[in-house]
Amino acid sequence: MLILGIETSCDETSVALVEDGRKIVKNLVFSQVKDHAPYGGVVPEIASRKHLETLLPLIDEVVSEVNLEDIGGIAVTVGPGLIGSLVIGLMFAKTLSWIWKKPLLGVNHLEAHVYALFLEYEGIVPPLLCLLVSGGHTELFLFKDHGSFEMLGETRDDAAGEAFDKVARLLGLPYPGGPAIDEVSKRGNPYFAEFPYPLEDVLDFSFSGIKTAVRHFWERNKHKVKVEDVAASFQRKVVEILLDKLRKASSLKGINKVALAGGVVANSFLREKLKELQAEGFEVYYPSLPLCTDNAAMVAAAGYHELRRGRIAPLTITAYPNLKIGEDFLRFCG
Ligand code: KG4
Ligand code: ZN
Repeated sequence: MLILGIETSCDETSVALVEDGRKIVKNLVFSQVKDHAPYGGVVPEIASRKHLETLLPLIDEVVSEVNLEDIGGIAVTVGPGLIGSLVIGLMFAKTLSWIWKKPLLGVNHLEAHVYALFLEYEGIVPPLLCLLVSGGHTELFLFKDHGSFEMLGETRDDAAGEAFDKVARLLGLPYPGGPAIDEVSKRGNPYFAEFPYPLEDVLDFSFSGIKTAVRHFWERNKHKVKVEDVAASFQRKVVEILLDKLRKASSLKGINKVALAGGVVANSFLREKLKELQAEGFEVYYPSLPLCTDNAAMVAAAGYHELRRGRIAPLTITAYPNLKIGEDFLRFCG
């Protein structure tokens, strides 16, 4: 069965068709990065306008290649994300669901990131210990089964990707900061400086202290150190923290199947370190680069499981900008 997925929660407009929650038939992603770059971050108003311009042509292109009767449902991100952006995807999805008489399937964007893995690993099944690291979130949780999650840790301040973006900015690197730090770090010494590891004894994260430590270090030393070395040391510390929390959660919960998802998993240093985790005996799942960042294929895959579980959304469903992992949005929409 084909599910049409629509994703507009932040700065990517994406439409996809996925078969049986496992196989990508089409996954079109229009990135707005160049529209937000002059402002050094995502501008919500610009994001909404771009979604409005781009979504219909993408839907047209994806749908033109299939028979409408083969589409079994319309999946759409309902949260978390920017309210104006979410609403645009939702209104298109509701309209299509209504005129085509197809089930409407609401999707939690954070959970959808994990579903990206179901598109690439045939044998993957829950339970999984998940680490979601993106621009807005750093969440460590157990994916016990479809629709059943247990939160283990989250950030108390900045998200991991946000820390990359802010540190890049203070080092004078371009937006988005994650890829920029990744790139310059390839020419730097990751052990040049030692930045702090806050909240070492718990599963929650804190990244704003590291960002401040980098700022002070950079302000004191910028005339005598190389940006490559500072970026590489920051990146190494963040990756060390992410993997240390994963190891701790794994021994606490007695589970060695770990799944990573979100934009920060595109980081080449992190991907290299994941091989060490594998060598230690962990079963490690992480997406290919195109599926790390926001896309509608993961939304369609998550929507397929909503449909399987009979969770069809009413047309009264709306956007939930602060939706949490495991939160049942169908309970909010009467
Ligand atoms: O998942 P995502 O595309 O969007 C959100 O839902 O937030 O993640 C975007 C974040 C940004 O903060 C970006 O700087 C970061 O992922 N990112 C990276 C890399 N590529 C993207 N961080 C570190 N290294 C990268 N190569
Ligand atoms: Zn995302």
